[in-house]
Amino acid sequence: MTHYGLTFLFLFCWGPTAQSETSDSLRTLHKILFSNYSTAIRPQYNQSEPTVVGLKLFISNLIEMNEVQQFISLSCFFNISWTDEFLQWKPEHHGGIQKMQVESANIWKPYLDLYSSLDDTDLFGDERYRLSVLHDGRVTWHPTKTLRVSCLMNVEKFPFDVQECSLTFSPLQYTFEEVQLEARDFLSVFAISKRHGEWEAVNSSVIVFSHTFDGNKLSILSTSVRYKRQHMFFVLNFMVPIIMLSLLNLLTFWLPNDSGEKTSFSITVLLALTVFLTTVSSYLPRTSSNMIFITTYITCLLLQSGLTVLATIVMLYFHHRNKDLSEREEDHVADLNAKRITGCQRLKAVWGSKCCNNCLKIDVLMFLIFFLAWCTTTFWFFAYVRVPT
Ligand SMILES: *[C@@H]1O[C@H](CO)[C@@H](O)[C@H](O)[C@H]1NC(C)=O
Ligand SMILES: *[C@@H]1O[C@H](CO)[C@@H](O)[C@H](O)[C@H]1NC(C)=O
Ligand SMILES: *[C@@H]1O[C@H](CO)[C@@H](O)[C@H](O)[C@H]1NC(C)=O
Ligand SMILES: *[C@@H]1O[C@H](CO)[C@@H](O)[C@H](O)[C@H]1NC(C)=O
Repeated sequence: MTHYGLTFLFLFCWGPTAQSETSDSLRTLHKILFSNYSTAIRPQYNQSEPTVVGLKLFISNLIEMNEVQQFISLSCFFNISWTDEFLQWKPEHHGGIQKMQVESANIWKPYLDLYSSLDDTDLFGDERYRLSVLHDGRVTWHPTKTLRVSCLMNVEKFPFDVQECSLTFSPLQYTFEEVQLEARDFLSVFAISKRHGEWEAVNSSVIVFSHTFDGNKLSILSTSVRYKRQHMFFVLNFMVPIIMLSLLNLLTFWLPNDSGEKTSFSITVLLALTVFLTTVSSYLPRTSSNMIFITTYITCLLLQSGLTVLATIVMLYFHHRNKDLSEREEDHVADLNAKRITGCQRLKAVWGSKCCNNCLKIDVLMFLIFFLAWCTTTFWFFAYVRVPT
């Protein structure tokens, strides 16, 4: 015990020894404890020993998960605790006072910084909070804070994706020898709310390590939270209509050539798919670093739809040309009948009019080709974007 302790002991022995908790005894205790207190001095008698700061984080709400701008916003509250050796007293000498509250500005605090924060990195700069101090010097601090942290999201498997974001805390103003972080009961990260409209909290983990940064060894606590997207909204609003539309696209080939609807139908489907591609893209970050399966899928369907339009136009062109030809051919046949030409010559002359049957066969062939392409694309998409368990 050093002279601080002795001073306190001396004061305690001669101080008032009322046995009930009164505001007077609290005021006296406060005066004694803070008469010589400096917020700049780490509360350790032996300054070569580290102060161990326990950190416990509760995520009360997921406010926003922004895939486009790649950040996550969480409403959190902390339970930060450490031992302040300068704030110890014996309750029996101070009217049985076990704990008291201290203004945040009057006490030493481990300033924690949050890496990749989009707001102030100094987490608890604001002094609104009170801290509670137990008679054995244990200080607990319950600040609340909305954290906004940049988080690189992987939306490859949108809308069946799981996002993992990490929150990394470190007391940047102290080295590892001075302040060390410790995770206390981190399993309760999601104790309060597991649900959000779009995201479901699945998992969290925490690691504590030290890292040398710019010549200083720092204590770092990193926690990562995993959220799974509730994909039902996207399945019902995007996937089902896209699959429906692309299937309808195949029916173009079943429309009769003479209905005059073939091209307009296929172009309508093409436009509808374009609208869906634009809408889905608005949910996704503008990144090209990795392939996003759903946009690739829609682009493939768009390509198929475009080819359908092309094939329809080409087929209609030949259909109408052949129709003209066969009309001429009919005149020709009438002509031949009039001229009583038979046999080989007549067969050659009439052959052109058989083309209409060929057109139907080309329709079926085209349908099969495009159906096969559709099946391959869809199968490929669902094979890669397996629903995570
Ligand atoms: C405050 O600390 C100084 C330096 O350690 C010491 O000389 C002085 O007696 C202390 N005063 C009280 C009231 O504890
Ligand atoms: C302070 O702590 C260090 C490391 O624990 C120890 O080696 C040293 O003896 C201590 N000094 C005093 C005065 O207790
Ligand atoms: C804060 O953490 C300390 C130490 O782990 C614990 O004793 C205390 O009960 C906690 N307070 C709350 C409100 O969780
Ligand atoms: C939780 O996370 C750990 C490590 O990050 C992992 O090994 C484990 O499989 C995860 N559990 C679930 C249910 O996702």
